[in-house]
Amino acid sequence: MSINFSDEVNDEIITTAVSLPEDHAEGSLRPRTLAEYIGQEKAKDNLSVFINAAKMRGESLDHVLLHGPPGLGKTTLAAVIANEMGVSMRITSGPAIEKPGDLVAMLTNLNEGDILFVDEIHRLNRAYEEILYPAMEDYAIDIILGKGPSANSLHLDLPRFTLIGATTRSGQLTAPLRDRFGVTLRLELYTSEELQRIVQRSAGILNVRIVPEGAYEIASRSRGTPRIANRLLRRVRDYAQVRADGVITRDVADRALSSLEVDKLGLDSLDRRMLRSIIEFYGGGPVGLDTLAATINEEAVTLEDVYEPYLLQCGFLTRTPRGRCVTQKAYAHLGIAYMGQQQLEL
Ligand code: ADE
Repeated sequence: MSINFSDEVNDEIITTAVSLPEDHAEGSLRPRTLAEYIGQEKAKDNLSVFINAAKMRGESLDHVLLHGPPGLGKTTLAAVIANEMGVSMRITSGPAIEKPGDLVAMLTNLNEGDILFVDEIHRLNRAYEEILYPAMEDYAIDIILGKGPSANSLHLDLPRFTLIGATTRSGQLTAPLRDRFGVTLRLELYTSEELQRIVQRSAGILNVRIVPEGAYEIASRSRGTPRIANRLLRRVRDYAQVRADGVITRDVADRALSSLEVDKLGLDSLDRRMLRSIIEFYGGGPVGLDTLAATINEEAVTLEDVYEPYLLQCGFLTRTPRGRCVTQKAYAHLGIAYMGQQQLEL
């Protein structure tokens, strides 16, 4: 993978929360235990109670639904849960399950207590969801063999397993599926201090020399997302090696990230385009999500799942019943004069 420190940088890619091929190295950086896992204190707190209680009773853990924006460590947390429970985890995803047999095979291959992790569970075919209902509730499935009057049903008992579902859009899950999860945990964007600790931990694993202020500079420009923080750390490490003496200081991190066009708050060109469009075409808002998505030629779900959470956390965007509005703070960040929210003449 080539690194480009010139002006021709695709900053949309560097700061995307969605997983990229270059993130394959993420594996070695992943925490293995709840104690190593930084941040998400509320989720960890609840989980440690449920894990300990299940272990004390010698039972499998209740089914868990993890939801929140991409890149916050849902897969990592599922692997931590499996490790803490001392069980194996099998991984699949909603779109990877192409036929009912795929799901039946995954379920029947599980061992007692195992975890089945289904990423993007909101994208599971609705017709196959019905296989999951008795599987989750009664640890059994009924398979229909043959067709018409000669059809037979086969009842299969399953081991007591735990389903961990992950989704960026819990609102898209059907109510019957959502109701079958005993535990629902929402992952939140990380604070800069939490990300600083993650960057320092990752730097230790990667043998990168970094000072705390350098880690903070990377952290505060990572959109609240560990996946982005670890990606930026690798880019800044390269810069420090080639353009400095190998140590990541605040100044080295600032120069590297500025040359990658990652701004002081980690906003990328799509964030800026989104905010600017609301200002330029809709007087700062309100504007409906679909209208906005059409204006900037992006998918509404991408704006809602990937871009909005951080802009909302920064206080640059608000959601109102009539649509999205840009705040005065965002005008200041973009260097655009604020003249009050304009009412568009209808
Ligand atoms: N690497 C990625 N996410 C992490 C987390 N939450 N804690 C520690 N290291 C991480």
